[in-house]
Amino acid sequence: MSNVLSAVAWPYANGPRHIGHVAGFGVPSDVFSRYMRMAGHDVLMVSGTDEHGTPILIAADEAGLTPQELVDRNHRLIAEDLCALGLTYDLYTRTTTRNHHAVVQELFLGVYENGYFVEQTAYGAISPSTGRTLPDRYIEGTCPICGADGARGDQCDNCGNQLDPHDLINPKSKINGETPEFVETQHFFLDLPALAEALAAWLDEREKTGLWRPNVIRFSQNILKEIRPRAMTRDIDWGIAVPLEGWRENPTKKLYVWFDAVIGYLSASIEWARRSGKPDAWREWWNDPEALSYYFMGKDNITFHSQIWPAELLAYAGKGAKGGSPREYGELNLPTEVVSSEFLTMEGRKFSSSKKVVIYVRDLLARYQADAFRYFVAAAGPETNDSDFTWAEFVRRTNDELVAGWGNLVNRTANLIAKNFGEIPPRGELTDQDRAVLDLVEDAFATVGGLIAQHRQKHAIGEAMRAVGEVNRYLADTEPWKLAKDPADAVRMGTILHVAAQCVADLNLVLSPFLPFSANEVDKVFGGAGEIAPMPRIEEVDDLDGGPGYPVITGDYSTAPAWRRRPITAGTPVAKPTPIFTKLDPSVVEEELARLGQ
Ligand code: MF3
Ligand code: ZN
Repeated sequence: MSNVLSAVAWPYANGPRHIGHVAGFGVPSDVFSRYMRMAGHDVLMVSGTDEHGTPILIAADEAGLTPQELVDRNHRLIAEDLCALGLTYDLYTRTTTRNHHAVVQELFLGVYENGYFVEQTAYGAISPSTGRTLPDRYIEGTCPICGADGARGDQCDNCGNQLDPHDLINPKSKINGETPEFVETQHFFLDLPALAEALAAWLDEREKTGLWRPNVIRFSQNILKEIRPRAMTRDIDWGIAVPLEGWRENPTKKLYVWFDAVIGYLSASIEWARRSGKPDAWREWWNDPEALSYYFMGKDNITFHSQIWPAELLAYAGKGAKGGSPREYGELNLPTEVVSSEFLTMEGRKFSSSKKVVIYVRDLLARYQADAFRYFVAAAGPETNDSDFTWAEFVRRTNDELVAGWGNLVNRTANLIAKNFGEIPPRGELTDQDRAVLDLVEDAFATVGGLIAQHRQKHAIGEAMRAVGEVNRYLADTEPWKLAKDPADAVRMGTILHVAAQCVADLNLVLSPFLPFSANEVDKVFGGAGEIAPMPRIEEVDDLDGGPGYPVITGDYSTAPAWRRRPITAGTPVAKPTPIFTKLDPSVVEEELARLGQ
């Protein structure tokens, strides 16, 4: 059994999150974490809201709020949405806490003292019309490396390289189209070339495990070729102060939002430990070289997790060409695996809040069951290929697979038991057919669990649903309802229903990482307490270091049952169930397309 860190990408606080975001990092990380807990691992699942950077200033301006007011509002909304999806964070916090600021400054100082920051003069972009600094990602032009149009000042999405806005050919402001003016300014650059060899060695070692998705490892190795120093400070007044004399007091210089955001995985682990009353407990996930860490995100985040974050960790540890040694946090683990998903589109188009090609998590959950969405993501999400969310497909998957497959098995079994016995009947002698279906279902634990552990959730849920189909077929073949007429058949009928109920209980556990809400409902139908899938909650907490309080997501997930068959008990009462899943009317498709204006 291992200590497993589930490090989930930090949603950006410039607005509420849409389903494309949570399909990429949210649901997959929760399925994985739930399974790993049931398999006996010590999982620490952390994340929070990413609240610094220029997009926050722009959104705050638009909303007529201060940046702090804007992030307060959005942090709460995002936390509520993620909680309503049933995502079992041990701690979901935010980057404006005092704890996070302190941890980020400690990391900065470690990197600085080891010599991996170089102070350089750079060109900063200014908007000639407003005189304000223009953030990298709001400048667009032609990529100097691959020649693609529409490259942003921070990154080219075509070739994946990180860019400097000053190098863009024909740069233009995305805000108003004007050509930015470039002025000289001082910044701290992370000396990535001095860390390149260590990064390459780490990636080579990771590649040998064969675990990373091929496109993720290839992309990560590829971007090493163009490695160069990257500025980790910005001319901006919203963010974390640079903890050095002459800089700390400067209100217009802050750390780059990406420098601070990735440190959130560590700061949230530390905050979790401090809140748990064992302030050093985080070290079991970060200092123990045997501990495992999995980072979940969408593909536009790969660079920051397979290059910038490991570079920060290596520099803090002093493991680059310039040597050095770590400060108080010690040597921190690099990611075991960067688990990146691809993109989700909607009705064939890119999500776009401004063009209204979007459905927010909140709106979806107001109208549909969280498990229906979770099922769609697992079965048809952008795991290793881009995928498309369409309402027609959502309705089809919900009705034909969830309702007609799993829902039908649960209802049939419970109805037959309720009607004929009122409780789980005892088991008589088993036939070969009974044993075959019991074995097939028990095997699903190993198959489905193994696939989830390898981040192959699409295949995993396919296998689980295949087993559901086999049990439905078992009932169709054995026809227990025909045995109700003759009392002489009662024992055989009871045996079949006992076998079916055992299969349902098993499959309910196997499906519980994917479908936690319905797992609890199914458990109740068969006489359980309805607590087999632990749920997160929102808690209002005080800042640990005297800042303003804030909501977090947390929970006690230690009650999750083990990942194996639990024999059912004859005599447990079973009442007539109400259907677990809501069948969707086909008119949903038109209604939703009308909402999208299509
Ligand atoms: N806020 C970023 C995004 O929405 C993700 C940050 S992940 C982090 O793309 F770990 F770096 F915070
Ligand atoms: Zn390019």
